[in-house]
Amino acid sequence: MCGIVGYVGNKKAVDILLEGLTSLEYRGYDSSGIAVNIDGKVELFKAAGKLQNLKNIVEKNYTEISKSTIGIGHIRWATHGAPTIENAHPHSCNCGKVAVVHNGIIENFKELKEKLEKRGCTFRSQTDTETIAHLVATKFGETHDLTEAVRLATREIEGAYALCVIHQDLPHTIVATRRNAPLVVGLGDGENYVASDVPALIQYTKKAMYLEDNQIVTLTPDSIQLIDIDNKPLEQKIETLPWEPVALSKMGYKHFMLKEIHEQPDVVRNVLSGKLRAIDENVILKEVTLDRETLKNLNRIQIVACGTSLHAAMVGKYIIEDFCGISVDVEPSSEYIYRKTITDKNTLVIGVSQSGETADTITAVRQAKSKGSHILIVTNRPDSTMAREADSLIPVNAGIEVSVAATKSYMAQLISFYLLAIYMAEVKGINNLKDLKHELIILPQKIEKVLAHKEEIQKCARKFSGSKDFIFIARGINFPTALEGALKLKEISYINATGYTAGELKHGPIAMLDESMPVLSILMKGKVYDKILSNSEEAKARNARMIALTDSDDEKLNELFESIIRIPEISEILSPALAVVPLQLLAYYIAEFLGKDVDQPRNLAKSVTVE
Ligand code: M6R
Repeated sequence: MCGIVGYVGNKKAVDILLEGLTSLEYRGYDSSGIAVNIDGKVELFKAAGKLQNLKNIVEKNYTEISKSTIGIGHIRWATHGAPTIENAHPHSCNCGKVAVVHNGIIENFKELKEKLEKRGCTFRSQTDTETIAHLVATKFGETHDLTEAVRLATREIEGAYALCVIHQDLPHTIVATRRNAPLVVGLGDGENYVASDVPALIQYTKKAMYLEDNQIVTLTPDSIQLIDIDNKPLEQKIETLPWEPVALSKMGYKHFMLKEIHEQPDVVRNVLSGKLRAIDENVILKEVTLDRETLKNLNRIQIVACGTSLHAAMVGKYIIEDFCGISVDVEPSSEYIYRKTITDKNTLVIGVSQSGETADTITAVRQAKSKGSHILIVTNRPDSTMAREADSLIPVNAGIEVSVAATKSYMAQLISFYLLAIYMAEVKGINNLKDLKHELIILPQKIEKVLAHKEEIQKCARKFSGSKDFIFIARGINFPTALEGALKLKEISYINATGYTAGELKHGPIAMLDESMPVLSILMKGKVYDKILSNSEEAKARNARMIALTDSDDEKLNELFESIIRIPEISEILSPALAVVPLQLLAYYIAEFLGKDVDQPRNLAKSVTVE
């Protein structure tokens, strides 16, 4: 959701800006723009729609634009104002000397705008961001110092922001700052970078400095100065970035989503590595600081998350309750934050997030933290804002996920929950989970088998790609799998898909069934197999088109189901980690067959940094 890139050095800034924005494209956006300094004048170039539209404009003016060795760029996901050229960033002030790019939302922009208009500022867009450009220009007029102007401006701004600012009179300076939105500085040799996320930097430098809230950084080609909001100089903490550029390549796959689905066997191996070494050894989770005493005193666990992470959390609830006998509530973060929650120091609150930047989940964990709860964060980004709130951290190690639709990060979250549940059970002295540990160790081979036999899934995708609606049913531990299968399908194919507990079908949804409705039953062997079979019979009796996803080789299923996707046999308790793979593939092939933009579905963003 929105992306920022800034460069100051001796190279053609435009190349680095466009390259950086391309690597952030996966986050979801609907317009883009850059600001450069050409012959001592700040010039803006903007386009609505895909980044390619901006690239086409740049191409026509490349000789001029490429003169600049400084620039800031942005991809925008519209919040205030439609995705038009006027509303695209960068934004400028009356005199056109200042250019600003911004991620986040300025909550008091109406008040600021009114004040600025009274002072003679003319607004050209409907955005909240334009207020920052006018505000910084006003402060620069008073101080003639860009860092000071930005610092003073941030004292008046309320809300969340990551900002980069340039000024015409300072052709070798970028000033950047943040509050509740990520920003990272990349350090080069005679050049420096700034971006809202690592993929924009990683091909240029691995030396980086993460900005913290209210810190202001001033970049020139040869220097970096860091201060706090009170103008106090700060020490710079330089880190080495963990991401490899290879992670950003499709490696021969048509889409990132397909590549990421295929990475899942290795993701499982990675997550288990060093944590589950042998079935007769205890799980090692060094980052989790919950000892027997703390666990004994826990009166409840609350898990907060959104979207796909919420589905992983639902599986987490099932296994923690099953193995450890502790009551677990799972709630969408966006609901949790607007009610009175019964949370105290004896509540463990787990935040789950691929990006670690989801605004609702950050607010939820902060709220719980203020009530004294131990905060455990499960995230794919140990460098994220959410990770910094953690008392205990489980980094899920899925590697960077580019496709907006989460796949391998879901797998990594699931496996992390299995490890956490086993770890907590073992801390409590429960040691009967050897079979599960064995199954976890051989899970990658089973996923590989599913990936090697995709023909039935592809056939099924072709057959059902014309459907307007889709129902997924399951019971017990695979109900979240049904929700996740439905979410994947609607996200990338725009087919209306819903997941139900199979037992609920006859309490309403059954009214929807007729010969045009596909119903996919997740029919894994175990406690609820026969129950789902009966629910599937009920659906078939209403003429629904039945699809089975099963680890059973029962021949009788051939009569009931029009299509059967068979997967290797697996224990019911671990089955969500295998059953989800064919559903990811089904969604992928349907979307691909329909010619949809698989990696960047409409209206969606990779990390949802606004509430
Ligand atoms: O980064 P997070 O895991 O916190 O993101 C939560 C959701 O926005 C995310 O899972 C979303 O539902 C994905 N597009 C799912 O594919």
